[in-house]
Amino acid sequence: MAKTPIRFHLNGTETGVFAHGGANLLDVLRREAGDLTPKQGCSQGGCGACSVMIDGTLNLACLTLAETVEGKHIETAASLADGSDLHPLQKAFVEGFAAQCGFCSPGILMAAKALLATNPDPTRDQVAEAIAGNLCRCTGYEPIINAILTAAAEMRGRSVA
Ligand code: FES
Ligand code: FES
Repeated sequence: MAKTPIRFHLNGTETGVFAHGGANLLDVLRREAGDLTPKQGCSQGGCGACSVMIDGTLNLACLTLAETVEGKHIETAASLADGSDLHPLQKAFVEGFAAQCGFCSPGILMAAKALLATNPDPTRDQVAEAIAGNLCRCTGYEPIINAILTAAAEMRGRSVA
């Protein structure tokens, strides 16, 4: 089957790939664009491991047709760190032991980033709700929620996005 070109901005870099018609964005990001941070869990919209931002809105890459992102801006967890400087969310996850195998972490980090972009001072319940679509089978949600609240407090103090 012939592939068609798709162009988009991936973590600020103009990116061009070729994809089969009907390909989902998760496959295109991982196989064509080489960004392995969005994870393939269920491929059915049920685990949140593939969460990415598209034009500033949280989306499930496994349920997104790749051709629909033409010209759009996509952010993955690969965008969070600035070189060796971790994003406050990543730092809080490390220091708060909020990851074990880490498979769910990129999706949860993106869900948390999306939450804090619109609600920089969330309640514990609001954090839990924001990551309700992200499954973690090994860490448990308490350390994850604690880490997101810790990062939110630090980000408010530092006034960084
Ligand atoms: Fe997309 Fe599970 S891989 S929701
Ligand atoms: Fe292993 Fe969440 S840290 S699934």
